[in-house]
Amino acid sequence: MQTERFESHQVEQAAGVLRRGGLLAFATETVYGLGADACNGTAVAGVYAAKGRPSFNPLIIHLPDLAAAEQFGVFSPLARKLAEAFWPGPLSLVVPVREGAGLSSLVTAGLDTVAIRVPAHDGARAVLAAFGGPVAAPSANPSGGISPTRMSHVLDGLDGKIDAVLEGGNCAVGLESTILYAGAEVALLRAGGVTVEDVEAVIGQAVARPEDPDTPKSPGQLASHYAPDAQVRINATERRAGEVLIGFGAVTGADLNLSAAGNLSEAAANLFDMLRRADGLARQDGRSIAVSPVPMTGLGLAINDRLTRAAADRG
Ligand code: TXA
Ligand code: MG
Repeated sequence: MQTERFESHQVEQAAGVLRRGGLLAFATETVYGLGADACNGTAVAGVYAAKGRPSFNPLIIHLPDLAAAEQFGVFSPLARKLAEAFWPGPLSLVVPVREGAGLSSLVTAGLDTVAIRVPAHDGARAVLAAFGGPVAAPSANPSGGISPTRMSHVLDGLDGKIDAVLEGGNCAVGLESTILYAGAEVALLRAGGVTVEDVEAVIGQAVARPEDPDTPKSPGQLASHYAPDAQVRINATERRAGEVLIGFGAVTGADLNLSAAGNLSEAAANLFDMLRRADGLARQDGRSIAVSPVPMTGLGLAINDRLTRAAADRG
């Protein structure tokens, strides 16, 4: 399959790929997604195949606004409050699926809930408006690899396996959306681009954490994920022999620095690109990757989550 490259203004052609049941990668403010018509089972099956994704791992559907989202999911007052506060933006809400709404059962992997997101990126919004239906879109990378924040990252992993990619620049947030289960209570399923502190400020109550034994879990939170080829060592306070060092803050002698100023938003936007570049350097001469400590506040929670998975035992 030849992967077509569309420039950012070629939104109609891009939406046409979705209408024909094809696979379209497009930028969002978090990471590039690999989109398909969420009501077309064959198209959705193609997403799983292109990524090599296990079929028990459900997909997020993307819609233009809360009104469209309510056609596919059932929103509690708390879910609606979160949507109103953070949409459009880097937040996905897991809510009960609305029966008879026409989603392919492959999207939800047979669960009775669906994850819904309203992205803020102009290109993503234009494609969603032109297509006019729900777009199922996981991150546009082979399963288990590093999420793409540049068009070149998408092509590195999926060129020849997908129909088209719509150019959308570099992803401004750089980390996937925060995923919240939003019923009568709110539980964190995946840390991401919206901080837990901001969520708690909006709902005025604590968010249950994934470590809590009774909270719902997300099928996709595998221990090893976001993995470069090279081994990764986190919380590295110095560079050891044979390591490529990714710094954070005022670190001397780092090969790359997530944010020399110690800014977590900047670090998030750089994270996946720098992991890929460090992997390229490490591959040249058989080195491994070390990453400086990143604080656990704000976006640091999501950054550390991704780094911990990148460093996890591959089993
Ligand atoms: O920022 C993002 O969320 C990006 C962009 C493209 O929107 N998408 C993304 O999708 O990160 P993906 O497939 O890489 O991660 C989606 C996660 C998976 O861990 C999956 O298990 C979880 O969402 N998920 C999807 N539906 C769910 C559900 N009904 N209940 C619990 N977890 C769900
Ligand atoms: Mg992913």
